[in-house]
This record gives sequence, C-alpha cells and structure tokens, in this order.
Amino acid sequence: MGHFIVTGCAGYIGRCLIRRLAILFKKPIIGIDNLRYGQPAPNLPFGDFQFREMDVVDYFHAATEAELRGAEAIFHLAAIVGAPACDADPVEAERVNVISTHAMLSALAARNITSPMLIYPNTNSMYGSLAGVCTEETEGKPLSLYARTKIRAEDGIRECYPNHCIFRLATAFGLSPRMRRDLLVNDFVWRARHEGRIEVYDPGAMRNYIFVDDICEAFAFAVLNWERCRGQIFNLGHDGLNMTKLELANTVASLHERCEVIVCEGSDPDKRDCRVSSAKLRSVGFNARIEVAGFRNILADIDGYYAVALAASWMTNLHPVRRKS
Ligand SMILES: NC(=O)c1ccc[n+]([C@@H]2O[C@H](COP(=O)([O-])OP(=O)(O)OC[C@H]3O[C@@H](n4cnc5c(N)ncnc54)[C@H](O)[C@@H]3O)[C@@H](O)[C@H]2O)c1
Repeated sequence: MGHFIVTGCAGYIGRCLIRRLAILFKKPIIGIDNLRYGQPAPNLPFGDFQFREMDVVDYFHAATEAELRGAEAIFHLAAIVGAPACDADPVEAERVNVISTHAMLSALAARNITSPMLIYPNTNSMYGSLAGVCTEETEGKPLSLYARTKIRAEDGIRECYPNHCIFRLATAFGLSPRMRRDLLVNDFVWRARHEGRIEVYDPGAMRNYIFVDDICEAFAFAVLNWERCRGQIFNLGHDGLNMTKLELANTVASLHERCEVIVCEGSDPDKRDCRVSSAKLRSVGFNARIEVAGFRNILADIDGYYAVALAASWMTNLHPVRRKS
C-alpha cells in the first residue's frame, strides 16, 4: 500500500488535511513540519500517522529512494505563508517556498521517480490587481514577495514534473487545530468579538474565499480523479464568495450588535484585488460546499471558538520561533 507525504502537516490546512486523508484513504501518512510557530505537534487518534519534526529542505535532501518511490501522493504545503510573514523574513521565504520545492523536484528527478501524484497549493494572490474575472489562463502579476515565491515554485513544478495538480487557492477561512487568526476572515471575526471594531484598509479590494475543509476535499478529489486533474491548474475558491473587503467586514460585523466598521487610510501588504472564477474545477466535477449561507454559519463557529480560545502566539504566522537562515 502506498503512503502519503504531507509537508507543512502542522499548519492550518495541513492539520485538517491529514485528518481528512486518514479518514478517507486509510493509508499511512508521513508528515513533515518544523513547528515554526511553536504550534503543538500534530497527532491523529486513529490511522497510521508518522510525524517528523524537521526542516522541509533537509527532508528532501535526506529522503530515501524507497520513501519517495513508495509515495502515492506528495502534498507540498510547507511554506512561509502570507505577505507579512514573507516580508518579515525574505531569506527564509525564498528558502522554504522556492528552494524546498526545487529540492523536492531534484530528489525525484535524481532517482527518476515520476509516479507520486504531486499536489501543490499556490495562492490566487498571484493574479495581483486586475479588473475582470481571473481564470487559470490569466497572466500572473504577483504584487507581494509571498506571491512571487509561490509562483516560482509553481513554475518549477510545471516545468519539471508532469504528474502534478496545482491549485490556486482563495483566502481560506474556518477552524483548524492550528488556527490562523492572521487570515483575513478569521482576523475580522477576532476583531469583531474582542475589539468591537474592524479596521479596513483598501475597502474596495475584491477577494475570493474558500472554507478550509473544502480545500481538503478538493485535494482528496484530485487524488480520486487523477486522470481528470493530472497536469492541470485549478482556481480553488467559491465563486459566490467573491467579496470586497468592506462587504466582508460588514458581514462579519453583523455577528455582533455593537461592532463598528472603520475604513482607514493605508494599504494591506497583500495587495490582491481581483474576482476569481473556479469554473474549471467545477467542470471536472468538484464543487466547494460552503457558499454564502454556509459562510455565515462558519463565521458563527469561528466566533464561538474565539469566545473561549486564548490568544496563543502560534495562532498567527507573525511570531516564528524557529527558522534556519
Ligand atoms: N491559508 C490560505 O489562505 C492559503 C491560500 C493560498 C495558498 N495557501 C498555501 O497552502 C499551504 C498551507 O498554508 P497554511 O495556511 O496551512 O499555512 P501555515 O503557515 O499554517 O502552514 C505552513 C506550515 O509549514 C511549516 N513550515 C514553515 N517552514 C518550514 C520549514 N522550513 N520546514 C518544515 N515546515 C515548515 C509551518 O510550521 C506550518 O505548519 C501553503 O503552501 C500556502 O502557501 C494557503
């Protein structure tokens, strides 16, 4: 039985993904993560999960041929994620986002290994700021270091490893065992509850959103429908969840009676402003489950969690405790 390799398995998406893969596929999972933010190590109360606390570049330099060749799929999630986190440590952003991807591709090429399905999450912030609707054909105009490093990693995969499926993700929201409060939706919900006000920069900027569990479902869908997904790039968001930042702030503020929305001068380090279509992914059979009505329920879930959760520093990508460079 082949196994799965998940890098970044202790992250916001990774923690949800390993749980979903274990339930759905019942295969061994090898998880790699250096716990950069001091977050708790992941565990699964069921299934065959082996966690290795280590650097992802070191992992691909040292991985054995048997381990790579035996992988049914590699999910390469480890990254320095988000524009502020990359701007705060550009050397590490280059090393983890770009060099780890090259190390993975070299490790596979050196042994002529082509069978593992490679699933890679890029960000739709690679489209930058554009009028109209972005499809997978739209030329990337990345405006942040984060988006530039992610698109370079995507380019490397497309050039060197045909057995891939690339997703260009919208901004994720929802609960994860490794919560990220720094994601836009999750952040607004926190501020609405704990500060009673949401400050909005670039209020007219259009963003697209996706429920974190829908991301995991899409990755699993790709594995189960590889012939339709192999060699493809898919935008992964919900088309009903294209909203300006001001619309999002007003929706979140409506959770609480006395929450103010304040439009501020200044700009967001994540400069994306575009409407994104996920029609191509729907055309191969995948539909994100959480749309506008479900969105409000998820906001209420996040809010309920924040009512009891402590503000641990590992709940954002802004306070790393570990780095290599
Ligand atoms: N969350 C989103 O909205 C979103 C949107 C688009 C794309 N993505 C992509 O999805 C993937 C996962 O994002 P996330 O939201 O879970 O972010 P995250 O920061 O929660 O997860 C990244 C994980 O990588 C780990 N990591 C960082 N440096 C490492 C290193 N040197 N060695 C080993 N592990 C290391 C971190 O500890 C973390 O657990 C990333 O590739 C990201 O670019 C996420």
